[in-house]
Amino acid sequence: MSYTHSESLAGKAVIITGSGRGVGRGIARTLARNGAQLILTDILDDAVAEAREELAALGADVDSIAIDLREPDAAEQIVGTAIDRFGRLDGLVNNAIAINPASPFTSQTTDDFDLASDTGPRATFQLMKAAHPHLVAAGGGSIVNFGSGAGSAGEIGFAAYGAAKESIRGLTRVAAVEWGPDNIRVNVVLPFANSEGARIWEQQDPASYNAAMNSVPLKRIGDVEKDVGALVSFLLSDDATFLTAQSIHVAGGAGIHR
Ligand SMILES: NC(=O)c1ccc[n+]([C@@H]2O[C@H](COP(=O)([O-])OP(=O)(O)OC[C@H]3O[C@@H](n4cnc5c(N)ncnc54)[C@H](O)[C@@H]3O)[C@@H](O)[C@H]2O)c1
Repeated sequence: MSYTHSESLAGKAVIITGSGRGVGRGIARTLARNGAQLILTDILDDAVAEAREELAALGADVDSIAIDLREPDAAEQIVGTAIDRFGRLDGLVNNAIAINPASPFTSQTTDDFDLASDTGPRATFQLMKAAHPHLVAAGGGSIVNFGSGAGSAGEIGFAAYGAAKESIRGLTRVAAVEWGPDNIRVNVVLPFANSEGARIWEQQDPASYNAAMNSVPLKRIGDVEKDVGALVSFLLSDDATFLTAQSIHVAGGAGIHR
């Protein structure tokens, strides 16, 4: 038996970053099934085009833009694509990030730090700013940002990544209190899910990956559509209109906050 909530996002236009693969692509499938109009975006041009074609073949109203979030005008271009295509914006999912392989804190470089920061909190900040006037014009909206247990609980080898992810949680809480009067809700999802990123981690550092797996009380890794997609869909929907400023782990009971 599977949980579906078809039409819960009907008429809602949503941007999803990093939706060419992994968690972002899984979220895109779930949101499309629930009736959302989607703008997919990723640095991987073939992957994001393939994701768009896959969802369009299922009948979704979907467009895509391939762009590096570090480009100075990326946020304006992505939001502009949504407004050109749908004439409105109701939701923003800031899922993308890029990081270098995990390494001890003292080996991490400023370049490692900048890569995580530029593709994580910096891009999230810029997209939130670009989206804000359109969410206000729509009478409100929902932003879903992405954190990680690597930051909230601390994970060996992930200094730059953990810092970037906790910066995103700070941005989220400030925007939630500042934009609450605009009826804009801002929340953070912290997943543990079977993406390409998770598989790369498993290959590069099996010991740390297996330790993370073993710490999951529900004893499995999450599904990008059924577990993470379902939560993101709920947060974007009108079922969650009194829910803001929250950090929600969808990680089988792992990833506690310290
Ligand atoms: N998978 C997990 O278990 C897990 C755990 C904790 C947190 N997260 C978070 O969930 C989110 C998705 O993770 P994932 O596992 O799917 O990662 P992933 O690496 O598989 O996917 C990230 C996506 O972002 C895109 N991207 C990277 N750099 C970009 C750039 N400069 N411009 C545009 N797009 C870019 C990638 O191409 C990719 O499609 C991330 O925010 C991650 O921190 C995932």
